[in-house]
Amino acid sequence: MALTNHKFLLAARPVGMPKRSDWTYSEESVGEPKEGELLVKLLYISLDPAMRMWINDARSYMPPVGIGEVMRALGAGVVTASRNPRFAVGDHVTGSFGVQEYALTDGKGVNKIDPKILPLPKYLSVIGMPGMTAYFGLLDTGQPKAGETVVVSAAAGAVGSIVGQIAKIKNCRVVGIAGGAEKCRYIVDELVFDAAIDYKSEDVMQSLRKHCPKGLDVYFDNVGGAILDEALTQLARGARIVICGAISQYCNTGPVAGPCNYLSLLTNRATMKGMLVLDYVDRYPQAGAEMATWMAAGKLKSREDIVEGLATFPETLLKLFKSENTGKLMLKLN
Ligand SMILES: NC(=O)c1ccc[n+]([C@@H]2O[C@H](COP(=O)([O-])OP(=O)(O)OC[C@H]3O[C@@H](n4cnc5c(N)ncnc54)[C@H](OP(=O)(O)O)[C@@H]3O)[C@@H](O)[C@H]2O)c1
Repeated sequence: MALTNHKFLLAARPVGMPKRSDWTYSEESVGEPKEGELLVKLLYISLDPAMRMWINDARSYMPPVGIGEVMRALGAGVVTASRNPRFAVGDHVTGSFGVQEYALTDGKGVNKIDPKILPLPKYLSVIGMPGMTAYFGLLDTGQPKAGETVVVSAAAGAVGSIVGQIAKIKNCRVVGIAGGAEKCRYIVDELVFDAAIDYKSEDVMQSLRKHCPKGLDVYFDNVGGAILDEALTQLARGARIVICGAISQYCNTGPVAGPCNYLSLLTNRATMKGMLVLDYVDRYPQAGAEMATWMAAGKLKSREDIVEGLATFPETLLKLFKSENTGKLMLKLN
């Protein structure tokens, strides 16, 4: 029986928050793999803040998704047909498969995973791209030393929650900034951060002063905007700011709000550096192995926020920008 593929194509470049009308939900029959290709049935699709950047018509680290193209997304699935010698039917894999039920691929950038070792969602979360971002962003760019104070924003999210836990493993004092009492409780009670700041109800600058009396040695920035500016005022001498993301700015209709307080870099001999996880692909196996030992020792936990149904994609994606997710957001396909 011919299989049917449902997929989301980009219909228009969104202004502000993407709307359902910015997408086309389309249906087609599934093709057969050609020589060298494999067919993957998607089981989970990763929803990431970067997706909002990928649909802007702007120069970035990868070309924008074109109008009429399948929306780009990482995913995990199972091989259902293969004419590629590296993959057999029944193999579980991750890769950039798009927002769709079935993907035909030549196998480039596709990695085998083992659901007997870890549940599939973990391969898109702590042991996947967000976990790698946290590991390399913190350790390579942030360079934390034992006893230093590390502050991370979007601290209950996919990247932030792992950053904070790795900083604890490295014997740092860790303060997370997150939106709402429940997220703050989660990072302190369950992820053993030393303190949390609820940016929705507290004065961030005052709370940073209270929880980081010697200043911030590392600030891992996931949000940009006002919180980055406030963190800049509280730097310790020689501080490192990791520019990982700026989710508060991604749906802006005006220009990105840049930091006013950047002269703090000068007075504190501090650095601010961007990092991109794709630069570390060759070192993922090394990081994954170390993180797996931390997970086995109970030192590294992750939460996945899983929403069922491909058809919910346009609304589920917005959870990231409305602060409605805790942990790694993803879709589960039937
Ligand atoms: N550089 C890289 O290679 C790389 C790779 C992956 C991700 N990233 C970046 O890392 C950041 C986190 O990504 P993630 O996948 O871990 O997402 P996430 O933290 O799981 O989800 C996004 C979170 O951002 C917070 N947020 C949303 N709007 C906000 C606003 N206006 N002000 C402050 N916080 C806001 C929300 O948490 P609250 O409830 O706390 O507001 C929301 O839950 C993003 O900026 C992303 O682009 C970068």
